[in-house]
Amino acid sequence: MEKFNIAIDGPAGAGKSTIARLVANTLGFVYVDTGAMYRAATWCMLQAGISPEQESEVIALVRDLDIRLVLGSDGQQVLVNGKDVTAEIRSALVNSHVSQLARIPEVRHVLTDKQKLLAVNKGVVMDGRDIGSHVLPHAEVKIFLTASARVRAERRFKETEGRPGVTVEQLEQEITTRDRMDEQRETAPLIQAADAVRLDTTHLTIPLVVERILELCRTEVGGG
Ligand code: DC
Repeated sequence: MEKFNIAIDGPAGAGKSTIARLVANTLGFVYVDTGAMYRAATWCMLQAGISPEQESEVIALVRDLDIRLVLGSDGQQVLVNGKDVTAEIRSALVNSHVSQLARIPEVRHVLTDKQKLLAVNKGVVMDGRDIGSHVLPHAEVKIFLTASARVRAERRFKETEGRPGVTVEQLEQEITTRDRMDEQRETAPLIQAADAVRLDTTHLTIPLVVERILELCRTEVGGG
C-alpha cells in the first residue's frame, strides 16, 4: 500500500489522540501528537520561570529545544532535551498556560517546521488544531473531530480520575476557555480545513470513529 498522510484536528477532548493512535496502529503508520510538542514547550517555559507574555524569551527557549516523540513500551513518550516529560506535560498548570504559548506566531513557526519534517516521508497520522489547514495542507485524508463540550469534559474527567477536587463542570469550563483561545488566535487558529471531513463523536464509540476514518482512507486513497 502506498503511504499517505492523515491530518486530524479538533478541539480539546474530542478524542483525537486515542483515535489517531488507533488509526496509526491499524495502518502501521507513525502517530505524531503535535499538542504534546506545544505542551512540552510550555512545561519548559514554566520550569525556566518565564511567563507567556515574555515573548522574546519564550521564542529563544523554544528555538533551542530538542523535542522528541518516541515510541516507548507504554505508548508515546515525550522527551525534551533528553528528559522524559510524558506525565508532567498533562498537569493542570500546563493545561492553563499552553494556549498562551501557542498563540505566539514565531513559536508556531518553529514547531510547525519540526512537524512538517516528521511527515516528509508520509505514513503519518498527525493530530492537532491546524494540521489540515497549515501544517499538512496536502494531507491525503483530513478529519475534523468534534463532540459537545459536556461530553468532552466527561471524557477528560474519566481520564483525570484521581485529580482531587476537580469536577466535570470545572473541566468543561477549562476546555471551553482553551477552545476559545485556540479558535480566536490570529496565527493558525483552530479551524476546520475546507476539505476536511467533520465527524461529531458525541454519540459515536471509539471503534466506530476509527472504522469511519479507515473507510475514508479506502475511498480517498485506496488504503486501510
Ligand atoms: O491536543 P492538546 O490538548 O494536547 O493540545 C494542547 C494545546 O496545544 C492546545 O490547547 C492548543 C495547542 N495546540 C496548537 O495550538 N496547535 C496544535 N497543532 C496542537 C496543539
